[in-house]
Amino acid sequence: MALPEEFLQELRDKNDITDVVSSYVNLKRAGRLYSGRCPFHSEKTPSFYVYPDTQSFYCFGCGTGGEVITFIRKIENLDYIEAVKLLAQRCGMDMPQDSYDDSMAKLRRSIYEINRETARFFHKCLISPEGKAGLDYLRRRGLTDKTIKRFGLGFAPDKPFELINHLHSKGYSDSKLIQANVATRSRNGHTMSRFYNRVMFPIIDLRGNVVAFGGRIMSDQKPKYLNTADTPVFSKSHQLFALNMAKNVNTRQLILAEGYMDVIALHQAGFENAVATLGTALTPSQAEIMHRYADEVIICYDSDEAGTKASDRAIPMLRKAGLKVRVVTVPGAKDPDEFMKSHGDKGPAIFRVLLEKSAGDIDYKLEKLLDKYNINQTQGKVEYLTEAAAIIADSANPIERDIYISSLSEKLGVKKDAIDQQVQKRLKYSARQQRRKDFRNISDDLSARHDKINPEKAKNRRAATAEEYLIAFLLENPHMSQYITSKVPPSKFATEFNKKVYSVVLNKIESNGNTTLTALSQEFTQDELSYIAAFVATILPESLNKESLDQCITVLLQEYEKNLTESPKDMSDDDMLEYFNKLGKIKGS
Ligand code: CTP
Ligand code: MN
Repeated sequence: MALPEEFLQELRDKNDITDVVSSYVNLKRAGRLYSGRCPFHSEKTPSFYVYPDTQSFYCFGCGTGGEVITFIRKIENLDYIEAVKLLAQRCGMDMPQDSYDDSMAKLRRSIYEINRETARFFHKCLISPEGKAGLDYLRRRGLTDKTIKRFGLGFAPDKPFELINHLHSKGYSDSKLIQANVATRSRNGHTMSRFYNRVMFPIIDLRGNVVAFGGRIMSDQKPKYLNTADTPVFSKSHQLFALNMAKNVNTRQLILAEGYMDVIALHQAGFENAVATLGTALTPSQAEIMHRYADEVIICYDSDEAGTKASDRAIPMLRKAGLKVRVVTVPGAKDPDEFMKSHGDKGPAIFRVLLEKSAGDIDYKLEKLLDKYNINQTQGKVEYLTEAAAIIADSANPIERDIYISSLSEKLGVKKDAIDQQVQKRLKYSARQQRRKDFRNISDDLSARHDKINPEKAKNRRAATAEEYLIAFLLENPHMSQYITSKVPPSKFATEFNKKVYSVVLNKIESNGNTTLTALSQEFTQDELSYIAAFVATILPESLNKESLDQCITVLLQEYEKNLTESPKDMSDDDMLEYFNKLGKIKGS
């Protein structure tokens, strides 16, 4: 169901896009526009613009754009109604009663409740006679009762209907349980618990909601862990286990471990700033979330080859998010959990020393490189230096570079200048590669998205470009609508998508004169709005003048004629009449 137009109009008036964006992005005035560093991708030079005239934003770097509601949706990761609600709250407006579809928000609320009730059920079960196997297991693994309680650990009984019956008694339907993914439908149509006979680790978001579960089997059977699939409240690549607790430590430092058990063992040993991903490799989004709470991340992955590989992949990602990185590997144990267990009372003290003397990511890499080459031989030394120069160029900032170059020069007895040259060469090479890659990514991404939204543009480039200009012009100059439509009615647009945009804008002008992108937000999807924002943004305000307008009108009419003569079979009756009339004129003249 749609929100009333007047409501959206008021919402837009009261939430000026420049004000809203300013609370997330540091904006600088640039003539009629504002610019800043894009919050949706990481960049050093600003390519993100806010256009007060059309109340829209657009990033030339990543192609994200749209109006104020789209901005809030993206930055807060909300659905449409939730974003509208947030903006309504921001300016003290009440949501219109029952006039909108907030079924998604309701579903999410139910899922949070179901998850909380499920976590309670599992925990109660763990400390009841039924959960004895689970409790024994966790104690055997060295967890204290206090830790078990603090993490809200639980036990899923070996009876697939117990949880379901319990949740039914609280009034939740099968369909909701399945959408929360605490239940699945069995082959013969029964709704049964997704987890049974496993110890359960609830995953809690930053606001304290239970969003998912990890369940560990207590034997060597597979799969070792079973996790909640992505649901409307959970996306595993955007969550971190125990960040809800770690964020309160306030040391601006986080320890990144591999598994649930590692994190819990570290917390129990007093390292309450430990977090873990949820069984997947670190994502850029997780790195960015970590950067909100920390300036430095200490990676403490498993000591095996998989752990080393995972940390090689995590390092650049964390660096890119602006974090300092150090790496700790626990000696003589496979992971931090085993390490704590094997050192008993002394574990925390030894681990603290390891943390303190842990190497920065560059030292760590240079150290590892020593295993690969024999630097006592000339050949080995040259190869080592080439690769070391690449590491220094790719990872270090200018100050660090100087330090590493000096220390390598001393260590290997090679002139500083020679190493410096090698580093500079690599820097140039990497910058070139990066530029190429960025350019490819952005243009692939944009053209893929744009081709999908306006697929006819590829074949009608000249017309589509003129159409886009016309729409941009109209948005800025609604008072010209009569003039423009008298020359080019929507039926003369070559591409269906632009025709729709044009018609909707004309309708809006007729009904209330509102021509901001917000006014279009109900008729178009987020991607479509982003596409519209993109072409509006790429047309410079200076170029919106009567002369260019008339040129575009001419182009559109020419293209229209051309298309007519090319494909008379696709014409409407009116077009057909006009076409025959014209043929007559041409022949007759
Ligand atoms: N994991 C998973 N599914 C699996 C195996 C692992 O989701 N089948 C995820 C879990 O989040 C787990 C992490 O990957 O915590 C690390 O895996 P692993 O090292 O195998 O488990 P540990 O947490 O160390 O558990 P344990 O000490 O009980 O072996
Ligand atoms: Mn492990």
